Amino acid sequence: MDADLLRIRDDALLALESCQDEANLEAFRVRVFGKKGELTSVLRSLGSLPPEQRRVVGEQANQLKELLESQLTARRARLQDEQRAQSVAAERIDITEPGVRRLRGSQHPLLQTLDETIAIFTAMGFEVARGPDIEDDYHNFAALNIPADHPAREMQDTFFVGPEMVLRTHTSPVQIRVMESRQPPIQIIVPGMVYRNDAPDQTHSPVFCQLEGLMVGKDICFAHLKGVLTAFIHSMFGPDLPVRFRPSYFPFTEPSAEVDMGCPVCGGNGAGCTRCKGTGWVEILGSGMVHPNVFRAVGYDPEVYSGFAFGMGIDRIALRRYEVDDIRLFYENDLRFLRQFS
Ligand code: PHE
Repeated sequence: MDADLLRIRDDALLALESCQDEANLEAFRVRVFGKKGELTSVLRSLGSLPPEQRRVVGEQANQLKELLESQLTARRARLQDEQRAQSVAAERIDITEPGVRRLRGSQHPLLQTLDETIAIFTAMGFEVARGPDIEDDYHNFAALNIPADHPAREMQDTFFVGPEMVLRTHTSPVQIRVMESRQPPIQIIVPGMVYRNDAPDQTHSPVFCQLEGLMVGKDICFAHLKGVLTAFIHSMFGPDLPVRFRPSYFPFTEPSAEVDMGCPVCGGNGAGCTRCKGTGWVEILGSGMVHPNVFRAVGYDPEVYSGFAFGMGIDRIALRRYEVDDIRLFYENDLRFLRQFS
């Protein structure tokens, strides 16, 4: 073979071997077959050779061109195969590897209890109303017939957040707000957080959850109160539980009653029971007939309208329901505790 062609062939085969990507291959193609490429130059200069030599070298050059072209194509194919193999390896997933378990949240036990309580009352025709957590003195106290010297107003019990402004100590101010804004008949429940300046202990938390109820109309009497609250307790805790209404006092109701149910721990038996302190009863809510002064404060005529109200601690109900013995557990958000309710 012609010495020049031999050199071109050896160089080219070597160069092709070291091509690693499409850019290298293209550079190689230009170097050999381009306008000023090595092989192109040989083919161009054939014309200046004597005829005999021209035929021989021309044939050799054409053979070399075919050889290098097919080598180039083969090299390209091999590089593509390698690349594909690499990306398949990189994207490979091990379907036998164990998955990452996703943490699933669950509803807080207080909210579970609250939702259930709301469901029982809405089934009886009550609608849900809400009011602000930061209240003025008038709605939290004065309009509810709570006199200026009532102990609930003392620094000890109430969080004052500004002049005449408090964190509501109960959900009862929402009774006033609803009655101010519309006329009877009214049949509402009011779920919400309430605040009292109490040191936290097993049975006290400075923030807790209440549910208020109010029913106002013509000829609403104490029997309605008893019927609604008994139905609630039976639906929440069981149809056979004894319920009793015990005379009590609230400034905004008259007469007033605290409602007890048979202790679900000792079954009303009492003896030796720490939950009900041996009495066989546990207090569950406060209630009463709306005081005439409360109706006057909102502009209702107490000679025309009557009604009953009640307020219950959702925390207490949840404590009973889940047999939890410390209210603070509901507010510490310890996942080890909360996970037990999912
Ligand atoms: N607001 C009272 C409390 O927080 C509960 C209550 C509401 C009592 C309505 C009677 C009527 O203790």
